[in-house]
Amino acid sequence: MTRRDRTHARPHPRAVVVVGATSGIGLATARRLSAHGDQLVLVARDEQRLQEVAASLPGPAVVAPADLGTGEGVAEALAACAAAYGRVDAVVTTAQTMAYGSVEQVPEEVLASVVDVGVHGTARLAREALPRFREQGGGQLVVVGSLLAEISVPGMGAYCAAKWGQLALVRALQLETRRQRGVHVSLVVPGAVDTPIYHQAATYAGSPGSAPPPVVGPDAVARAIERCLQRPRRTVQVGPANRVVRAGFRYLPGPYAVLVGPLVRRIALRGPTTPDHAGNVLAARPEAEAERGGWTPWGALRDGHGRARWRRR
Ligand SMILES: NC(=O)c1ccc[n+]([C@@H]2O[C@H](COP(=O)([O-])OP(=O)(O)OC[C@H]3O[C@@H](n4cnc5c(N)ncnc54)[C@H](OP(=O)(O)O)[C@@H]3O)[C@@H](O)[C@H]2O)c1
Repeated sequence: MTRRDRTHARPHPRAVVVVGATSGIGLATARRLSAHGDQLVLVARDEQRLQEVAASLPGPAVVAPADLGTGEGVAEALAACAAAYGRVDAVVTTAQTMAYGSVEQVPEEVLASVVDVGVHGTARLAREALPRFREQGGGQLVVVGSLLAEISVPGMGAYCAAKWGQLALVRALQLETRRQRGVHVSLVVPGAVDTPIYHQAATYAGSPGSAPPPVVGPDAVARAIERCLQRPRRTVQVGPANRVVRAGFRYLPGPYAVLVGPLVRRIALRGPTTPDHAGNVLAARPEAEAERGGWTPWGALRDGHGRARWRRR
């Protein structure tokens, strides 16, 4: 964040609920909005980590633990925003978990949980937020989707199902709110982003996941989210390769099918042999949360000394 960003506080602060605020894009968004004067409610599953993040922000922030996958705490989080700041101007959701492995390999409970966060979690937020927005005369729901909502990739079926389902839901919400004055639903679509999500993901594929290049920083997505809050847009793409990858999937399905498997094995699942584990899918792993995951723009992982190495050790 630049000094110019930090010193440009908004004259009229917004009350914003940021879901997924303890890590990656959600954390970068919370930091950015707080630095610009917005009043926040921070939401994720782990309360202690939420408290740490709240204490690190320059502006007011209330914490509201909630689980988008089960719905526990979701209504309370929006009520906390209205109670603390008098209204809910916007809800931004970046919450998602991820699982590597073929559809056959990923256990049913893990696949269901990944889909629950993306699909049912987004629906739960919409159900709570939209009536409040109408009652107040306006408000914005900003959903962070993924390039993987528009292409499919072997070994990432759980995540693709969550993001395709979330995309369908967001498109329906956009149509359903079309004539509702002041109510906007926006979708922000990142390609690969340098966040801990790859270390946090469940894996049943024999290797951990890696960020495929080109990788952008989480603040690039946070900036797009903030721009959406200032000027609502239907969809915002963040990622230099999004357009070309989507075009390959859509218009060249034969070559895409031949290339995608080897590319995933070489680029996205290139780490050392790893035993199966559920990552942060079934429970939060706050110790591994941070704004960045350590990925360079070309998809190498920095070691503890900041040097980039191509392969995970
Ligand atoms: N990183 C990428 O390369 C990339 C690319 C494209 C799209 N995206 C999308 O960007 C968004 C943010 O991803 P990220 O990379 O920033 O991930 P991240 O660093 O792993 O952060 C995920 C956040 O979501 C929260 N969360 C997870 N499950 C939750 C649940 N059930 N209920 C409430 N909160 C939950 C996590 O906190 P707790 O675990 O404590 O709950 C954490 O705060 C996601 O929608 C993802 O699909 C990411």
